[in-house]
Amino acid sequence: MTSLVIVGTQWGDEGKGKIVDLLASSADAVVRFQGGHNAGHTLVINSKTFKLSLLPSGIVRQKLSIIGNGVVVDPIHLEKEIREITNQGIEVNTSNFVISSDCFLILPIHRYIDSIRENLKQGSKKIGTTGRGIGPAYEDKVSRRGIRFSDFKNLKELEEKFISIYNHHNVWIEKFEGKEISYLDDFEIILKCYQSLSKYIENTWLLLKQLNDKNKKILFEGAQGFYLDLDHGTYPYVTSSNTVPSNASIGSGANPKYLKRILGITKAYTTRVGNGPFPTEESNEIGEKLGKIGNEFGTVTGRKRRCGWLDILMLKKAITVSGINGLVLTKLDVLDSFRDLKICTSYKINNQIVKDYPSNISSNHQVIPIYETLKGWEEKTKGITKFEKLPLNAQNFIKRIETLVSCNIDIISTGPERDENIIINEVFS
Ligand code: IMP
Repeated sequence: MTSLVIVGTQWGDEGKGKIVDLLASSADAVVRFQGGHNAGHTLVINSKTFKLSLLPSGIVRQKLSIIGNGVVVDPIHLEKEIREITNQGIEVNTSNFVISSDCFLILPIHRYIDSIRENLKQGSKKIGTTGRGIGPAYEDKVSRRGIRFSDFKNLKELEEKFISIYNHHNVWIEKFEGKEISYLDDFEIILKCYQSLSKYIENTWLLLKQLNDKNKKILFEGAQGFYLDLDHGTYPYVTSSNTVPSNASIGSGANPKYLKRILGITKAYTTRVGNGPFPTEESNEIGEKLGKIGNEFGTVTGRKRRCGWLDILMLKKAITVSGINGLVLTKLDVLDSFRDLKICTSYKINNQIVKDYPSNISSNHQVIPIYETLKGWEEKTKGITKFEKLPLNAQNFIKRIETLVSCNIDIISTGPERDENIIINEVFS
């Protein structure tokens, strides 16, 4: 198998959807391995916008699209997303879409818990989740209470599992909400969804083995970003799955030996939705300008993203821990009108200069970013497809990032359209 894992190196929203779509044209299959419909992948093809949350981005190119076992699936949402994308002219059928029978389900009660929990927290204590039940669903998985698609084979046992999950959560819900949630309606709804989704459900580890035996090309599509990883991110302001490429194996059943090429997606600046530390955040007119030009609003929740400068410490840790061997720099064109550009190269913490991303940054409120300032190019780069055509200052900006992180930039994205890229190195030919 030739494989490529694509992951975000920041807090998500780095533009992975577009890059997956671009590279999916060379792939035989695209695999999601973690997260759920908290992801928001936007693809613009011939000025038509496609927004995907749970379906792998390869579906738009009619590539075999696989939801691996590490993904938590809300069947109600999945049905809706399939309906919406079908209405946009994209066919979803049993030859191009497969869901792992080992996927755990997000039930309506998980969504409910996610929202009431967030409402109970005050101010900066709120994580700012997407409210889609991701955390509670993963918690039930880890607590060995969770429900998988394979459980639908025995309806009696399935109903018992529903009762046990609802009983477990109702103790807590009753205390805070003064009422219990009945499992019955949800059981009926989910059963109905299962009936329409069952045709897509398969043993995906085996499918991946068969694809490997046939020497097929597989693209693993990460969701969220490195700093939302449960272990390596800015805990507790993280998502509830491991977003790092090593999880592509666990979350799909693909043999780790298949996963050699890892591509990290990095915005030319930084954004974050939800709460949590953000050392290079610009809560001022610079952040406003980045957000306005970059159209920085969450695909899933519509929330305004926080914006700031590129952070090299973050990038270096993401590259090291993820095993990234090439980068894609996205949204370069958003910087076109800035006279000066800043890149954070170290932090000052308690009067000490720190060059490597420190652990537990969330408890440290004294992080002062130290910047290198580069001259902006103040020219249009949107749509440029050749490196030599970029203004000299833009070339210098890119080369400086490569030097600072000791990693190649293989692709530069210069606009939202599929063909608005500079391909420096072919990464998946
Ligand atoms: P959850 O994944 O809904 O539990 O949210 C946990 C944190 O991850 C929140 O800060 C969300 O805003 C953030 N998050 C989850 N998915 C994405 C994503 O796809 N892009 C950016 N942020 C995300």
